[in-house]
Amino acid sequence: MDISVCIGSSCHLRGSYDIIKGLEALIEQHGLQNQINLAAAFCLGNCTNGVTIKVNDRIVTGVSTENLPQVFKEHVLKALS
Ligand code: FES
Repeated sequence: MDISVCIGSSCHLRGSYDIIKGLEALIEQHGLQNQINLAAAFCLGNCTNGVTIKVNDRIVTGVSTENLPQVFKEHVLKALS
């Protein structure tokens, strides 16, 4: 599975870096290092909605440190199970 986190300027200002750190921690917690390829991406075209990430081909907008665990569960863990 590929996960990209937008590091375009708008998402960067809204905390992309923390999202990348958070994802790294979650991936490690769940022992998914071999199954997930985490990368940074340039603007994904959804700048007004907070940090945008892409899980395989699905765009997920409005990601924050608060909802990250939920997003991870819904879009990553579910897809892998
Ligand atoms: S800067 Fe992230 S979607 Fe545009």
